[in-house]
Amino acid sequence: MGIVLSGVQPTGNLHLGNYLGAINNWVKMQHEHESLFCIVDLHAITVRQNSNELRESVLSVAAAYIACGIDPKKSAIFCQSAVREHTELAWILSCNAPIGWLNRMTQFKEKAGKNREKAALGLYSYPVLMAADILLYKATHVPVGDDQKQHLELARDIAGAFNRNYETELFPSPEPIIIGDTTRIMSLRDGTSKMSKSDPSDNSRINLTDNTDLIAKKFRKAKSDMEEGISYDVEKRPEVSNLIGIYSALSNLSRDEIINKYANAGMAEFKSDLTTIAVEKLSKISSTIKELRENQDYLEEILSAGRDKARAIANTTMQEVRDLVGLR
Ligand code: TRP
Repeated sequence: MGIVLSGVQPTGNLHLGNYLGAINNWVKMQHEHESLFCIVDLHAITVRQNSNELRESVLSVAAAYIACGIDPKKSAIFCQSAVREHTELAWILSCNAPIGWLNRMTQFKEKAGKNREKAALGLYSYPVLMAADILLYKATHVPVGDDQKQHLELARDIAGAFNRNYETELFPSPEPIIIGDTTRIMSLRDGTSKMSKSDPSDNSRINLTDNTDLIAKKFRKAKSDMEEGISYDVEKRPEVSNLIGIYSALSNLSRDEIINKYANAGMAEFKSDLTTIAVEKLSKISSTIKELRENQDYLEEILSAGRDKARAIANTTMQEVRDLVGLR
């Protein structure tokens, strides 16, 4: 048994990509490992957020975690900023992380864009905070999408650097659990870019809170191509392949089984069945999110319990770190 830690930023609505590509996996892992699922509001503020919306979003993400099947009795669900040790450890780790390593981070380069001089220091040191999230709990398994792979490798390197600098074996090397390409859910408008909450077009994603009509409309409008029927070829038919991937992840049928099933059918029939399956799965999730959102006291209780559980571990680790570093 290991320790699982992962997190999502409380910005915007969670969508089908978050569910099939991440949270669905966590649900399975929580039965095999001690698990902590964080809502990373400190990461969110590397980009300017509206403070009221940020506060509310933490509750929405907590509701979504639970609605998707994270069991708060089994797993700690907590807000990153409620456990102060995250920022404290991030500082100490930053003193063990060479700038050269951070300069290689492609996400920073993309996000900072051309005007790198004006980018916030926090956007640059973002991966060090992420390393602190992980190492604070001595996590052994970290499920992430492949866009976070480089940050996880950095966390491993920083763990190694700290251990070497302080001649200790305090931090285990966290194992990345990279969520495979079968569950990489792409935009419904462009099969070559990831389904994302920051895409300006709401039609590009299925939000976990979308109702039946909206889900049906979005799949009906989902981009396909001029070729007949359905077949799987990510290079030549990225959009259709994505829809097959979604169908497969939602139904537990393999891609081949799906392709056989629709060998003589048209795109309309395929999309209509896909809608039925998606609605069946998501309507339960969206109604649970709604119910939970109306029961704020319950969500606050879950977050407090998760925070206490996380704090207990974080406290012990920080005591060890302070002793090693020579802090009082
Ligand atoms: N950076 C991650 C993302 O944007 C979120 C995150 C923050 C995270 N801390 C983490 C993921 C620790 C896994 C482990 O997706």
